[in-house]
Amino acid sequence: MKGIQLQNLHIQRSGALIVRDLTLDIPSGEITVLLGPNGAGKSTLLDAISHVIPTQSGAMILNGESINQLGRLERVNAGLSYVEQGRQIFSHLSVEQNIRAACDSKELADKGITRTIELFPELQKRLNTAAGMLSGGEQQMIVLARSIIKSPQVMLIDELSLGLAPIVVSRFLPILKELKQSGMAILLVEQFANAALEVGDRAAVLVHGECVLNESCDSLRGDHSRLHNAYMGIH
Ligand SMILES: Nc1ncnc2c1ncn2[C@@H]1O[C@H](COP(=O)(O)OP(=O)(O)OP(=O)(O)O)[C@@H](O)[C@H]1O
Ligand SMILES: [Mg+2]
Repeated sequence: MKGIQLQNLHIQRSGALIVRDLTLDIPSGEITVLLGPNGAGKSTLLDAISHVIPTQSGAMILNGESINQLGRLERVNAGLSYVEQGRQIFSHLSVEQNIRAACDSKELADKGITRTIELFPELQKRLNTAAGMLSGGEQQMIVLARSIIKSPQVMLIDELSLGLAPIVVSRFLPILKELKQSGMAILLVEQFANAALEVGDRAAVLVHGECVLNESCDSLRGDHSRLHNAYMGIH
């Protein structure tokens, strides 16, 4: 099965159990939206999938193969890409240098620049500008462009919109839709739940580390009370 399957994951942080018995299917060609209140364990889950932190028990299957034994770089090489919470750019380097720094060959870097301009034509004039001089939205464009350079099969995206206006978010979501249509499996953590449900296929809600709701985005779009109740722990 293409995509990534998480089975009965238990994840600890500093000795405390943060994610409990989580089972979630993130199929290829779909956006799975992960919602939940602050401190629910969303970032912890993404950290564990990408092996920033270890997993206590459970299985992670990427395109039919277990990745439990793989380290962080091996998971990247197996097709996993992780956009972490908070903008990860080199602010003193130019936009172009930021893209090139994510590539291990000149050929890949040239392709990466072309693809970046294709996705974000507004960066064309900014290629030689220090990334730190750009707006938050433009910096996030660099982050997203860098994260897809190696054509990952699975993308984990944590709060791309953090600190950005909803109008900027609406710039990114169509791009995620295009990526999923190319066959990528996307796990999207997003504070603007309504915007995420617009582009998402399924949505899971995590509360205190437990998945309390897993539904199609279609069915949740018009029904805010179900989402609200899930956040509040009302079943
Ligand atoms: N490095 C860490 N060491 C110890 N505990 C941590 C660490 N990072 C997070 N936690 C704890 O793990 C729990 C889950 O945090 P996490 O950041 O995964 O939540 P989240 O759902 O991503 O929240 P937010 O919506 O605020 O980003 C919280 O109780 C938090 O205090
Ligand atoms: Mg988080």
